[in-house]
Amino acid sequence: MKVAIITGASRGIGRAIALELYKRGCNIVFNYTRSTQAAEELVKECTSTDRQALAYQVDAADFPAVQDMVKDVKSKLGRIDILVNNAGITNDKLIVRMKEEDWDKVLDTNLKSAFNFCRAVTPIMLKQESGRILNISSISGIVGMAGQANYSASKAGLIGLTKALAKELGSRNITVNALAPGMIETDMTATLSEDYKKSLLEQIPLRRFGQVDEIARIAAFLVSEDAAYITGQVIQVDGGLAM
Ligand SMILES: NC(=O)c1ccc[n+]([C@@H]2O[C@H](COP(=O)([O-])OP(=O)(O)OC[C@H]3O[C@@H](n4cnc5c(N)ncnc54)[C@H](OP(=O)(O)O)[C@@H]3O)[C@@H](O)[C@H]2O)c1
Repeated sequence: MKVAIITGASRGIGRAIALELYKRGCNIVFNYTRSTQAAEELVKECTSTDRQALAYQVDAADFPAVQDMVKDVKSKLGRIDILVNNAGITNDKLIVRMKEEDWDKVLDTNLKSAFNFCRAVTPIMLKQESGRILNISSISGIVGMAGQANYSASKAGLIGLTKALAKELGSRNITVNALAPGMIETDMTATLSEDYKKSLLEQIPLRRFGQVDEIARIAAFLVSEDAAYITGQVIQVDGGLAM
């Protein structure tokens, strides 16, 4: 049975991906930082007796803690087949107001976290001669967004990481792709002003925000056997917003 690690899956897109992979027969393992109750509820929702759901309260930006988490997963479940680097935050500010800590926190949470998990799981996937890595980027990393210098840079960085690792790991049957959502209804976008949401809606050809399940199903496809010949790609799921 496949083992999938999904980072930042207590809420939002990560949670939906974790549930979708569980539904499709994977053992799921996820981490989170603050939302303990939501994490416990997700574990409770996974009731099948033939597979597991494990939660770790581990900051994805903490390199040694991630190494320890992955070691523990390997010892408990024996293998790691899928890694979805989803953990992410925003801290939007114009560059003239952005403090050093605003930059560092977003880059550490969104980009360094993906390095941390890739670094920890790739030796295992290389030995297995198989694996799927999916990095949750954003259209902000493709087109850039005003007020999101830190976030856009982190999400563009994930695309570079994706392409480099696709070239490095392809010969061992490990695919590495990025998924770039547009505007998806989660806690992250709930804080945007109504005026800003309205102006965005006018720019989305499908005239609506996306739902987490719509991201989860594409993510599940990209880490499935059906996507065996797709690597190094950035798949936009954005209702046509960024083209
Ligand atoms: N929503 C969108 O429109 C959109 C668009 C493009 C890309 N994305 C990307 O999709 C991903 C998920 O976004 P979302 O909208 O689902 O966000 P969300 O609803 O705010 O959920 C973020 C998740 O990440 C976890 N997390 C945050 N910092 C973490 C850390 N340091 N270590 C481990 N877990 C951490 C949170 O757990 P805790 O609550 O426990 O901290 C939570 O489970 C992010 O990478 C985001 O950039 C989202």
